Amino acid sequence: MLKKIAIFASGTGTNFVALQQAIQTRPIAAEIALLVCDNAEAPVIKKAQADQIPVLVINFHDYANKAAAEAIILSALQRHEIAAILLAGYMRIIGPTLLTAYPHKIINIHPALLPKFPGRHGIEDAFAAGVSETGVTIHFIDAGIDTGQIIGQRQVPVKQADTVASLAARIHETEHQFYPDVLQSLINEGAI
Ligand code: GAR
Repeated sequence: MLKKIAIFASGTGTNFVALQQAIQTRPIAAEIALLVCDNAEAPVIKKAQADQIPVLVINFHDYANKAAAEAIILSALQRHEIAAILLAGYMRIIGPTLLTAYPHKIINIHPALLPKFPGRHGIEDAFAAGVSETGVTIHFIDAGIDTGQIIGQRQVPVKQADTVASLAARIHETEHQFYPDVLQSLINEGAI
């Protein structure tokens, strides 16, 4: 049985594509059954549509509060029988409505070695701090910002000649291998 997963994304969607390609080419017993996107202009939407993956675009400004918007998301997740959620560049804090409905089933990828450099600018913050090594963290989501239980980390070196752009490219390359690897292990272990 394929595990139905939802991807939540706000932007470009390179991790979305990497996950979708991995699912099509490796033995990963999963299916991306829904994309949830909070930005109607995000390029990730067309990437999902190209693969006939259902998309829920949700504009949080149309709702009185986060709980009301997440209630709409939750009903779509239930309708699509989603077992787990992978955040891939989803730039919003998950609220109690979804956390309660999916305990230990919401996973995030972050472009730094947490607990270092949490928040929206993990790559830029690590570069500005002058560290010689940064990386990628995959973790379960809890109510905090990038504070949930860490599932795994991969190191990425910062080189002398790096710019933010060259470092970002190296981090993204790592993400595109690492996220499918973690998804595959979580499914094989029965964790999601
Ligand atoms: C990724 O680098 C991901 O780690 C980061 O957003 C990027 C999305 O790229 N997430 C965060 O910074 C979360 N705090 P993508 O849209 O090309 O997958």
